[in-house]
Amino acid sequence: MPVITNIADLKRLHASRVPRMFYDYAESGSWTEQTFRENTSDFDQIRLRQRVAVDMTGRSTATQMIGQDVAMPVALAPVGLTGMQHADGEIKAARAAEAFGVPYTLSTMSINSIEDVAEATTKPFWFQLYTMKDTDYVSRLIQRAKDAKCSALVITLDLQILGQRHKDLKNGLSAPPKLTVKTLANLATKWSWGIEMLRAQRREFGNIVGHVDGISDASSLGAWTAEQFDPSLDWDKIAKLKEEWGGKVILKGILDAEDAKMALKVGADAIIVSNHGGRQLDGALSSIRALPSILEAVGDQVEVHLDSGIRSGQDVLKAVAMGAKGTYIGRAYIYGLGAMGQPGVTEALNVIHKELDTTMALCGEVNVADLGRQNLLVPQDFEGRWQD
Ligand code: GLV
Repeated sequence: MPVITNIADLKRLHASRVPRMFYDYAESGSWTEQTFRENTSDFDQIRLRQRVAVDMTGRSTATQMIGQDVAMPVALAPVGLTGMQHADGEIKAARAAEAFGVPYTLSTMSINSIEDVAEATTKPFWFQLYTMKDTDYVSRLIQRAKDAKCSALVITLDLQILGQRHKDLKNGLSAPPKLTVKTLANLATKWSWGIEMLRAQRREFGNIVGHVDGISDASSLGAWTAEQFDPSLDWDKIAKLKEEWGGKVILKGILDAEDAKMALKVGADAIIVSNHGGRQLDGALSSIRALPSILEAVGDQVEVHLDSGIRSGQDVLKAVAMGAKGTYIGRAYIYGLGAMGQPGVTEALNVIHKELDTTMALCGEVNVADLGRQNLLVPQDFEGRWQD
């Protein structure tokens, strides 16, 4: 067992153990990948204020997200095709999150279904919804999430059409993989992935296959989104979805203060400042740079969370000290899952927790709730000065 000291260690193992097609899927941004890169590099611009001679005993990273207790302000983000990174990946990630005490968000585009995850866990998880043209199917999905006792509906707003990720097209991404010469050559080097996958509960999109008729290609994310996703989604429809759900709603993909105000108007319980991990609008601001203006617009009226770019506990601390009430990790736990299944997700959470706790102590804080701008050195013009 290799010594894991940081998320980059898990990423290296992920690359070596998982078929290239799925590693690339996780590790892509759209087009030039500028936003994907800046999501992480912009965190580096923020520096921390070191404080000393503060009693650092009795530290706590525990807090709440949408009124739910969390061991640290970190949730597992919805990630499509998680069950292709490791056999029964959604079940394993959800179990690791539950044991750690952080929320797990199941993607509509998951391999394990809502019911599979509900059966394998004992506490409520969150369900992420993509809206489709087939409104009956969307209503059935919402009902299934209610039956599974999901405690929040996370509605993604920034993917009505799919951003182009070059590698997915070149690799012919599909779930399960189509057995071309190129794919077979790569699979031949990933034996343990293949053997585990043969034993997996599912290898297709579990929330779709068997739940909708007349699909032309249910194995391709690109084909499914182009054919089924609802390009006419607007704020009225979002308000109706919220009503249909009747529980806590988190709106994901807000990157602009004007949209944050609209989210407030439809009564979101929380919003997630996110650019979909740089996978949608390339050229958009990184999430951490977009965060301050959104906090200024709505931060005192709605819970603001941040996703995209978090790879360490220091990143979590920076986002929270900036004013986010919670953060999400996507790739950071997917690396762990691809590297070694459920223990790998636990390892990713442990790494991030340890980094958060130690950084908090060295900043002279003992409670995550006390983090604030006093802990940060934010460069002037961090958000950018843009012409009208
Ligand atoms: C879908 O969720 C994607 O970003 O690929």
